[in-house]
Amino acid sequence: MFKNDLLNNKRILITGGGTGLGKEMAHHFAAHGANLYICGRRENVLKETATEIESKYKTTVSYQTLDIRASKDVEDYIETIFQEGPLDGLVNNAAGNFISPTKDLSHKGFDAIANIVFHGTFYITHSVGKRWIESNKKGSIINILTTWVWTGSPYVVPSAMSKSGINAMTKSLAAEWGKYGIKINGIAPGPFPTKGAWDRLNPDDNDDGMMNTVPLGRVGEMSEIQNLATFLMADGCDYLTGQTIGLDGGQYLTGGGTFSQLDKLSDQDWENMRKLIRDANNKDKADRS
Ligand code: HXC
Repeated sequence: MFKNDLLNNKRILITGGGTGLGKEMAHHFAAHGANLYICGRRENVLKETATEIESKYKTTVSYQTLDIRASKDVEDYIETIFQEGPLDGLVNNAAGNFISPTKDLSHKGFDAIANIVFHGTFYITHSVGKRWIESNKKGSIINILTTWVWTGSPYVVPSAMSKSGINAMTKSLAAEWGKYGIKINGIAPGPFPTKGAWDRLNPDDNDDGMMNTVPLGRVGEMSEIQNLATFLMADGCDYLTGQTIGLDGGQYLTGGGTFSQLDKLSDQDWENMRKLIRDANNKDKADRS
């Protein structure tokens, strides 16, 4: 889809880049010439991903264990990176989530998610953004969100709340930091099954209900999120900022209207409906004459 040198020599940090969607984006950025920084809580997966990417592409991948909830560690890490050279891009991909009835959550459970998604994403963005501003350097930020930022979602309330906050940050900073040449956008993926997410969001491995609501009738393909992230990271579209783009096969739109459930009707069902409506019209007409 893109020329292989599209991201040549760009230096991009992907939080949570050792696994899941972060790893997928890392591969694609490297395939298009970017040098990468990846961080996360597990050294083994970071090391494995870094080795895998470096052996496949002619790029460098530095990795660092980091819990983005620890603000001082975040600041130190970003300072170390910038001492080596400024970043060009940041992908806020690291997240935490699990399904649970909200009434059963402990406050600590809520905090575990909010501290990663809401606080941690801000810490990273702030540490990177202020260095771009101080050094007069432009940059691109991509926030990995969910469509729940528009709809809310039962059973994942701490995540929906936190990601909505980051969606507000996306729009707010696009307006505040545009003058510094910093663009910031969001990707709101629908179901893209990764081990980290599906172990916690679909633990019984039954996604029939979820798939019924995707008009395209399938989950997302990794190449689709890789392509969108690469497009948002590349030069040439700097005017695009403050936007969160849904990448969900139209799933969230099916819940957006009062009559979404009519999607399930057969031709025969519609024929019966038309007859019932016509009968009602005829009865009203008869009453009027
Ligand atoms: C209820 C739970 C729980 C569960 C944990 N907790 N899992 N409560 N149901 N299933 C509670 C614990 O009991 C504890 O509270 C508190 O949360 C902290 O738990 P820890 O395990 O000590 O936390 P920690 O090790 O910091 O782990 C953070 C985590 C974990 C968020 C809980 O899931 C994690 O590390 N996740 C990272 C990867 C991830 O979640 N990926 C999915 C992202 S998907 P108490 O009070 O008992 O001490 C995503 C959107 C995808 O973001 C969109 C798809 C459409």
